[in-house]
Amino acid sequence: MNVKELLSLRDKIILVTGGAGRYGKCIVEGLAEADGTVITASRNLEAGEKVVREFRDRGLDVHAMRVDQAEHDSVMTLKEDIREKFGGLDVFVNNAVARPMHGYDAPIEQFAESMRVNATGMMDIVREMADLIATNGGGSIINISSMMGMYGPDLSNYDGTDMGNPPPDYFFHRGGLITLTRYLARVLAQKKIRVNCISPGGLFDNQPQRFLENYNKKVPVGRMANNDDIKGLVVLLASDASAYINGENILMDGGMHV
Ligand SMILES: NC(=O)c1ccc[n+]([C@@H]2O[C@H](COP(=O)([O-])OP(=O)(O)OC[C@H]3O[C@@H](n4cnc5c(N)ncnc54)[C@H](O)[C@@H]3O)[C@@H](O)[C@H]2O)c1
Repeated sequence: MNVKELLSLRDKIILVTGGAGRYGKCIVEGLAEADGTVITASRNLEAGEKVVREFRDRGLDVHAMRVDQAEHDSVMTLKEDIREKFGGLDVFVNNAVARPMHGYDAPIEQFAESMRVNATGMMDIVREMADLIATNGGGSIINISSMMGMYGPDLSNYDGTDMGNPPPDYFFHRGGLITLTRYLARVLAQKKIRVNCISPGGLFDNQPQRFLENYNKKVPVGRMANNDDIKGLVVLLASDASAYINGENILMDGGMHV
């Protein structure tokens, strides 16, 4: 098949959780630019609708729905709504993340809240969306983890800033998501679902100048990720061009860890 056809997402129904967030918005944009029909879902429907309005003005096929992945009823409502409105699902980008914990010494209840959303809720929505994809004959799941799921924090990045107390929950659930990718790639293959993971580096978001100086000098390409950097990778993993890529974790950090 022609490679442009292999990479096209035409006729694919794609769900991105947290699609109004920082990486989420880039992911939604890339998938829709590759002709996918893209649904963004998160707790804040208004934020999703704002993204939808912006992209629809450019002719992209983007829709907003609501979900709280930590609430089983909400996940089931989303599943039913997608089935009813779109007839099924082909691709799930598991991107949402909650950040309730604020540093090493924070109350342990914040760790528990993080697990409720980022571990238990995340597993719940993955299982339900996998079921929807399986009913449709198979497809692709893309987990968005982080380089911080692979490496410990480099505290020297925070020298001269007040950002030097990274929360432990994030490293724990991002690492778990990479391992879960390998588990799911085996188990869901029986349902014709491929499961891969992208582990990005930091996205430029007007961080303090001192942080940028510390960070950028450690990256061979000399900068943080920009809004385009994740698009090609997520389109590849969503498309038939990656039919033989399964169970992979792809580090996208500009070479920071070579
Ligand atoms: N921003 C970065 O620099 C960076 C770097 C590496 C990896 N990542 C990864 O990218 C992904 C997105 O991160 P981000 O920084 O763009 O996040 P963000 O904080 O900008 O957005 C997170 C999104 O998740 C949604 N969300 C939170 N709790 C939810 C819940 N209970 N149910 C449904 N949706 C919920 C939020 O509403 C929001 O839309 C994460 O997997 C993160 O680990 C981000």
